[in-house]
Amino acid sequence: MRTHYCGQLNTSHLDNQVELCGWVQRRRDHGGVIFIDLRDRYGVAQIVFDPDRPEPFAIADSVRNEFVLRINGKVRRRPEGTVNKDLATGEVEVLGHEIQISNRAKTPPFQLDDEHVADDTRLRYRYIDLRRPEMLANLRLRAKVAGIMRDYLGDKGFLEIETPMLTKATPEGARDYLVPSRTQPGNFFALPQSPQLFKQILMMSGMDRYYQIVRCFRDEDLRADRQPEFTQLDIETSFMDEEGIMMIMEEMMITLFREGISVDLPTPFPRMTYAEALQRFGTDRPDLRNLLELTDVSDLMQDVEFKVFASPAKMENGRVAALNVPDGGKLSRKEIDDYTDFVGNYGAKGLAYIKVNDLGRGREGLQSPILKFLPDEVIQNILERTGTKNGDLIFFGADKNQIVNDALGSLRNRLAVDLGLLHSEWRPLWIIDFPMFEYDEDEKCWDSLHHPFTAPRAEDPAEIQSEPAQCLSRAYDLVLNGVELGGGSIRIHKRDMQLAVLSLLGINAEEAEEKFGFLLTALDYGCPPHGGIAFGLDRLVMLMAGVDSIRDVIAFPKTQTATCPLTAAPSPANPRQLRELGIRLNKKDNPE
Ligand code: AMO
Ligand code: AMP
Repeated sequence: MRTHYCGQLNTSHLDNQVELCGWVQRRRDHGGVIFIDLRDRYGVAQIVFDPDRPEPFAIADSVRNEFVLRINGKVRRRPEGTVNKDLATGEVEVLGHEIQISNRAKTPPFQLDDEHVADDTRLRYRYIDLRRPEMLANLRLRAKVAGIMRDYLGDKGFLEIETPMLTKATPEGARDYLVPSRTQPGNFFALPQSPQLFKQILMMSGMDRYYQIVRCFRDEDLRADRQPEFTQLDIETSFMDEEGIMMIMEEMMITLFREGISVDLPTPFPRMTYAEALQRFGTDRPDLRNLLELTDVSDLMQDVEFKVFASPAKMENGRVAALNVPDGGKLSRKEIDDYTDFVGNYGAKGLAYIKVNDLGRGREGLQSPILKFLPDEVIQNILERTGTKNGDLIFFGADKNQIVNDALGSLRNRLAVDLGLLHSEWRPLWIIDFPMFEYDEDEKCWDSLHHPFTAPRAEDPAEIQSEPAQCLSRAYDLVLNGVELGGGSIRIHKRDMQLAVLSLLGINAEEAEEKFGFLLTALDYGCPPHGGIAFGLDRLVMLMAGVDSIRDVIAFPKTQTATCPLTAAPSPANPRQLRELGIRLNKKDNPE
């Protein structure tokens, strides 16, 4: 239906007779001449209709925004002084000879260039939202990135293999999405939280190198970088250790950024242990662009009379940490109160601080509600250890490790934004030496930090049982600018070790057989050493596109409450369907 795309026209097409199709971006009436900006995937062309041709002119006069048109006309140079340098097609315009309205459109519920449309509205009218050039650019980048991944991995001998969506639960720490089986009444499939077990089984099948760009499903609390269905680049290899896997993945990332957005990532990617990351940044995904760091002061607080500090300082799993904020002295009382409320969201019971006005004047030069509780010597030590300067402010967190880390770690991120401390740079980081297990105080049980198939450093299953807290795993995460992009590990490839780990997690042999029997059996039939990783494609493209939410790089994402306003999913099931599935709803959940 067309000879050219709107966005392609330039001076090389002068005097060409062209046919264009597209949407009306804007129609303007300029003293008897009508201008239509016609838009397609490639950009916008200006079409001019003058009254000399009354029939097309009348049609052009009647069109409105977002009408779909087909146009025939001649390309000409724009008159002197009307060239638009910001537009790729800005040197030319098309003199319209014919115009056909392929379809009319209602007035859109929002203007395409309106930046303040409610998310719900954007998602309900996603087809209009996706017409915005930024959204189109994001989806193009996503397709490009996936293409580079396929090329890169194909070249390295990775096979793209699909794994089932209707499957058995795969434990990645979230709730499952269940699908009832009609043929096996009372039984359910689970949608995969990841293809973890299948990719391991592919290694046992001798596939050697596998990858898949695959949808994963997790019913968990949603955030800006979490969706209930999201896409992983999932990878598994045999006979390769963590060093080999991290190297090849690092090279892939460098290729993706270079070919995708012409960015050279700094190499080699630095590595940091989990323990160091928590110590210095309060999180295992630190944003290294942010130079603020936590300083441990627990040892200084053991004997102070301020109980708020002394008791966590003495606790085995407690911590007192300081966060020095350069120039923080200018923070107002109100701002400090806001930050105190903010850390309260992470369980902190307060946010002590010292304003450093003049280091030369000892106590007199400091301003703080807690000064009176601290001896000179402790104060001196804090000032030295944090490297604070005149005009700075030191925040303190004192509580259980996790609360202090969450609170000050999040405060550190927030301050970086509020005080404009981040520069545009790319700071990738590998986190290594994760603990194998973490203790869940509420449930009184051990959980795996990665997943239960991750190999421990220990060779002997007995070691796991005796010192679970000390046990490190062979896992690694890739973090970029504070976002966890991917995580993986070397896997357990022997039955006795797998059983030992499951049993520590409170899964006895019988339950292990029921849940993962197929994996355990497969381990008995010749399982190679293997390992892999998975990257969040949505998060990667989000960072590359420079947007704040993965929703902006997913064509049809879900809302915060895991619904789709476009299709109104989820929705009640037809009673007959439910009967066929042998499902009866609770009265209170029954929409009827
Ligand atoms: P993990 O659970 O760390 O590992 O997931 C890998 C990566 O997937 C992304 N991701 C998400 N992205 C968007 N929304 C979500 N809800 C979401 N959850 C996770 C993150 C994360 O780093 N099977 C293991 C991988 C392995 O061991 O090889 C796994 O799934 O970027
Ligand atoms: P209080 O004696 O409770 O008024 O607390 C004195 C100061 O210590 C206030 O600035 C509180 O915000 C702060 N504070 C209280 N509890 C904690 C805590 N767990 N961690 C850090 N600061 C705290």
